[in-house]
Amino acid sequence: MSTPWSLSAVALIALAGAPLAALPAQQPARLTNRAAETRFVDSILARMTLAEKLGQLNQPSGAGIATGPGGGERATRMADLRRGGIGSFLNVVGADTTRALQRIAVEETRLHIPLVFGLDVIHGFRTVFPVPLGEAASFDPSLAERAARIAATEAAAAGIDWTFAPMVDIARDPRWGRIVEGAGEDPYLGALFAAARVRGFQGKDLTASDAIAATAKHFAAYGAAEGGRDYNVADVSERTLRDVYLPPFYGAACAGAATFMASFNEIAGVPSHANRHLLTDILRNEWNYDGMVVSDYTGVWELINHGVAADSAQAAELAIHAGVDMDMVSELYVRKLAASVAAGRARQADIDEAVRRVLRFKYRLGLFKAPYARRDAARERTAMLTPASRAAAREAARRSIVLLKNEQSTLPLRKDLGTVAVIGALAADSNVVLGNWGALGRREDAVPVLDGIRRAVSSRTTVTYAAGANPTSSDTTGIAEAVRVARAADVIVLVIGETADMSAEAESRSTLDLPGAQQQLANALHATGKPIVVVLMNGRPLAIDRLQETMPAILETWFLGVEAGNGIADVLFGDANPGGKMPVTTPRVVGQVPIYYDHKNTGRPPDPAVKWTSKYWDIPFTPLYPFGFGLSYTTFTIGAPRLSATTIGSADSLRVAVDVTNTGTRAGDEVVQLYVRDDVGSVTRPVMQLRRFQRLTLAPGERRTITFTLSVRDLAFYDLAMRRVAEPGTFHVFVGPNSRDVQSATFTLRGTRSIPVPDKCSP
Ligand code: NOJ
Repeated sequence: MSTPWSLSAVALIALAGAPLAALPAQQPARLTNRAAETRFVDSILARMTLAEKLGQLNQPSGAGIATGPGGGERATRMADLRRGGIGSFLNVVGADTTRALQRIAVEETRLHIPLVFGLDVIHGFRTVFPVPLGEAASFDPSLAERAARIAATEAAAAGIDWTFAPMVDIARDPRWGRIVEGAGEDPYLGALFAAARVRGFQGKDLTASDAIAATAKHFAAYGAAEGGRDYNVADVSERTLRDVYLPPFYGAACAGAATFMASFNEIAGVPSHANRHLLTDILRNEWNYDGMVVSDYTGVWELINHGVAADSAQAAELAIHAGVDMDMVSELYVRKLAASVAAGRARQADIDEAVRRVLRFKYRLGLFKAPYARRDAARERTAMLTPASRAAAREAARRSIVLLKNEQSTLPLRKDLGTVAVIGALAADSNVVLGNWGALGRREDAVPVLDGIRRAVSSRTTVTYAAGANPTSSDTTGIAEAVRVARAADVIVLVIGETADMSAEAESRSTLDLPGAQQQLANALHATGKPIVVVLMNGRPLAIDRLQETMPAILETWFLGVEAGNGIADVLFGDANPGGKMPVTTPRVVGQVPIYYDHKNTGRPPDPAVKWTSKYWDIPFTPLYPFGFGLSYTTFTIGAPRLSATTIGSADSLRVAVDVTNTGTRAGDEVVQLYVRDDVGSVTRPVMQLRRFQRLTLAPGERRTITFTLSVRDLAFYDLAMRRVAEPGTFHVFVGPNSRDVQSATFTLRGTRSIPVPDKCSP
């Protein structure tokens, strides 16, 4: 018996054949006792055969028993499991199912190591919340945290220990369908939402039976896919990688994200699954991240297609050396790495380190102590879709809606109108509102827009409906009927956009237009002369300049989840006042892509009056809606920023005071946004960068002064020598209700040389 085992009560009982589940508590409730954790993990590692180690790194999809979304097509794996050849499953759901598999792992395998069950719980489990891009439009990270907390509670009851979320990829090309899964284009907003979602999933104590581990994915620059085509090459510079794509990952790591997932793409010729610079030099050595890295689905195997591995053995060797700890679905670690070690092509030390991280992950989840805590059939029956969760989903839906246009106060509508014509196939679709990652969401739980409107109006109001057109078909035959229905109404609510499966994974589009015959439908309805309220549903910003020109009122509603219809009706009829803002710049046409607010100035900034400047011949260079844009049923004024100083030193903070007044007649929300510009740098700097924001509710006539505090950390970037610094000189501070309509003030950062600003989680 080796020394560590003989010192451990855990080991003694384990050796006697009892499952680790039955052991006295060896884990601290919190993660502070790192020494005990290391002792525990090393004591298990010391007893493992190479085959058992590789088994811990192996994560197949499905167990041949029950499956969740995304696959699970493989035959039963019980023999592999009993041999210790499986460390984790994905896409296995249900308290009883996961419990049965867990029992085999902890009672029948030689070392009794528990399984960890992973699933894509992206924006809710049974209670489906708005898609992540929609939630980001709330500019309220606490809303995302609450949604993730509820999702975790439900998922954990159903046997899930670990979600492959949050997706924190910056996306600047709306053709890319996965833009829907993240928080949009901005690194700062992205980092705050990343951290909030991690906190929500993991709760205060990761060992708790209602906490699930989070995954920051996809590491990294997956959103920079060329042409917006999913899985495509990204070729970003190291500076852009660090300044733009990595901050949300860093935010997630700082919030304690238990795992990271490698991304499918390459960056400048290096696929992430073989990218040791990214997974080890940056993540481990610079950031000191000690969580676990999982591959994406067959990502290890795909190194062959990328053309950096000649065969599956080399793919496994590259990935383990790069720092991919767990192999999702490829099964190449478990099949190939033993021979690679024997031949000297893979290092035992790399494998041991990966196993340590997997065991540590399981330990931190409390799985050794309580392997069944998250699979509880009784809780599974009661935890789902509770009235409180539904209420939270409705609140999230309301707060994620963005009012894009509201001419002559078309909105809100009166509840006692004679007839409301609801037009558009999406209006009656209860599936579409669940979005593309609806987990265990059910269409029968979901409230489509039509139902929400019917419930909201007075008993005197007639609600009529016609599909008119469908996003997936160019058939125009329904338009005449829709026009007929519309003509008999007082107002038209036109629900148009995309189906849910036009965004998310492998759902890129080449245009941002309204798909199908929906624009024709809109034109025909416009010709009736009736007031029209457009309710957009989509997983990406759509290029709707025609609608903006012709329609009096437009609401952006994304895919809002189970309570979509109620949340939308709340806003349509004024029970809620929309206050969301666009988390992504909306182009006029797809040809403007990529378009984002924190662009560089160029040597010839666009000037419509000067030919030789950076712009288009045929369209304006400005977006349709700027980043951060959104209206309200009331009006606000935001005063100019008042700075606490005009000069600051490296250790000082700068306070920026802003007066906000509700100048209208309704209570409403404004998101006050603060941006900074570094006027001169050793490398070019963005024209502005979001650094603070606050969503606040003001009563009619109410005026409030809010104060933001900036420090030198908010001015940092990677300089000419790739050091993270703040450079002395002048800066602009901008404040406003969006990134376009801002007022500014200036200050100077004192000093003669660059100020190093190391990455550090706390300020
Ligand atoms: C592939 C996706 O890229 C990833 O986001 C997801 O978590 C896995 N499939 C597992 O379903």
